[in-house]
Amino acid sequence: MNSPTEHSGRSYAEVYRESVDRPEGFWLTAAEAVEWETPPTRALDDSAAPMYRWFPGAVLNTCFNALDRHVRDGHGDRAALIYDSAMIPAASRTYTYAQLLDEVSRFAGVLTSQGVAVGDRVIIYMPMIPEAAIAMLACARIGAVHSVVFGGFAAKELATRIDDACPVVLVTASGGLEPGRTVEYLPMVEKAMELSDTPPHTVIVKDREQIPGSAADYQGSTSAWFDWDALIADASPVQPVPVAATDPLYILYTSGTTGKPKGVIRDNGGHAVALTWSMHNIYDIGPGDVWWTASDVGWVVGHSYIVYGPLLAGATSVLYEGKPVGTPDAGAFWRVLSDHRVSALFTAPTAIRAIRKADPDAQEITKYDISSLKALFAAGERLDPDTYAWATKVLDRPVVDHWWQTETGWAICANLRGLEPLPLKAGSPTVPVPGYRVEVLDGHGDAVPAGTEGSIVIALPLPPGTLTGIWHDPERYVTSYLAAFAGYYLTGDSGYVDEDGYVFVLGRSDDVINVAGHRLSTGSIEAVVAGHAAVAECAVVGIRDELKGQRPSGYVVLKAGVDIDPETLRSDLVSMVRDQIGPVATFRDVTVVAALPKTRSGKILRKTMRQIVDHEEYTVPSTIEDVAVLEALKKQLRG
Ligand code: COA
Ligand code: AMP
Repeated sequence: MNSPTEHSGRSYAEVYRESVDRPEGFWLTAAEAVEWETPPTRALDDSAAPMYRWFPGAVLNTCFNALDRHVRDGHGDRAALIYDSAMIPAASRTYTYAQLLDEVSRFAGVLTSQGVAVGDRVIIYMPMIPEAAIAMLACARIGAVHSVVFGGFAAKELATRIDDACPVVLVTASGGLEPGRTVEYLPMVEKAMELSDTPPHTVIVKDREQIPGSAADYQGSTSAWFDWDALIADASPVQPVPVAATDPLYILYTSGTTGKPKGVIRDNGGHAVALTWSMHNIYDIGPGDVWWTASDVGWVVGHSYIVYGPLLAGATSVLYEGKPVGTPDAGAFWRVLSDHRVSALFTAPTAIRAIRKADPDAQEITKYDISSLKALFAAGERLDPDTYAWATKVLDRPVVDHWWQTETGWAICANLRGLEPLPLKAGSPTVPVPGYRVEVLDGHGDAVPAGTEGSIVIALPLPPGTLTGIWHDPERYVTSYLAAFAGYYLTGDSGYVDEDGYVFVLGRSDDVINVAGHRLSTGSIEAVVAGHAAVAECAVVGIRDELKGQRPSGYVVLKAGVDIDPETLRSDLVSMVRDQIGPVATFRDVTVVAALPKTRSGKILRKTMRQIVDHEEYTVPSTIEDVAVLEALKKQLRG
């Protein structure tokens, strides 16, 4: 018998049509692949539209579906998680489903004994070690809501997230390992707790012997600090707690156009159904396949496809601590593929560009047996045709771009390898995934003809697994996503659909930028730069970068009478951004300019500035305040 996620023998077009014409039946059938405490009788609850909920009345536990059911069904000895550390190879280890279930249920016991209950928030600020996934699954097991904060963010960003999520417990590690340096987390955690108005009452620290600092060093501060290993040694395992399908599983903060990050809320039921469906239909991965997402658990890609998706599908997931290059060389990815007989790899185009830069002829690949690899999936930023062509040539396998966002949690557009592989086109993530009604609109909300660029929107309701709101800020959900075009979700990306229905995503149409697959807000960097004593005003724009896709570039107007050496200013601003946002902002360029071009209402013309720097064609907006400012800037920036 086929699994409910299989659409045996049916075409993409047929399945897509069914998903949009008969969504109730479509998603209720997909939901049969998940095990429920109370199965759903309805798919969509539109009673509070435009706020939609999926599988009202149904009850399940996500962790049970990711772990217990596979063990119960006799697959306890199958590998669940392969921790491969290029930083400390000796630490690498494999967890079977039975072992992972044991660790997770005992850490769930730890959290319970620390007073964490259903609906409580737990912040997880960890490097790429298995305990990060264990902590996430343990939260899911007891119905607590995790919020993972990427390790490349500094104390202030962590504090902002603490204040918004109001966690009762923070789980961390003594630190992370970056090539050539260690990143000590505990001083940052302590600083974040000091900056925060709502510090958690408990901090749990996974001690890594390579990195100084432990829970014992921080006793006596506002919270109680505990050692992970000591707590887990005494912990009793706990059983999964059934929760409503509509209850939150996690909050993941992402950059919006303002400095304040948005807490994207993901539910339990829609998420489990959508990810289970996606593993089979998009990625063609099933029980026992080895799947590797080379990303970080701090990003949505890591949530969906390092942790939840592969485990829900009963597959083996590789959790890799290392980089594509320099750990130790450009063969790192090929080594992992070969060591673990990986069936499919998912990474960001930046990683491929980094490998290409270090090893243009892909000499390293010849040293490894990567015959197990069926396909390479890319997302997180646009897969430029040049990188696509190179990867296709050196791998001699399908290189599959797919487009999605933190908000959606899974792909909006993809080439569905498990359903019906379609011809690949360079520069396109192919076609809308079943459930997503993608359209391209002009500024008036009218659909544009094929081939014409516009705002990419998705007709409401969004499918299961997508965001159900913004934490503590329902109004912001409406203003950020639903207010621009009635009846549609605004993706913030612009692009077009070609004659064959292929979607081409060209870039953000707002002030969000994508640096090495990391999503950042130029507004938050501007807020830091504006805090320098010499700066009167500033603009940060995302300019083209050969390796990282984009990088932030700062344009600064000095206060009258200030005389500061440009290199001193640059180095001040670079350290301020590093300290307040984190190294991941990759802020290095600072240019002092006489004035910033603005509209008559005072809005800085960031897009025009970016077009000037990137040597693109641009039209001078009719609302410009002083065209001479733009001319002077052009002269300075283009020479
Ligand atoms: N903790 C602390 N610092 C971190 C960090 C982490 N988890 N991740 C990155 N950083 C630091 C880096 O060490 C670097 O610091 P530096 O300025 O002192 O050199 C800085 O942040 C910038 O990092 P990054 O832009 O990632 O560059 P990199 O040289 O470290 O790595 C790539 C380049 C291509 C390997 C890396 O960007 C990559 O793998 N990108 C893919 C991103 C991704 O997975 N996105 C998710 C969507 S799939
Ligand atoms: P994030 O929320 O960090 O996943 O970033 C989402 C943003 O990354 C999207 O809105 C796009 O701008 C960009 N993005 C992600 N995947 C792709 C892709 N395949 N093609 C083009 N842009 C992408």
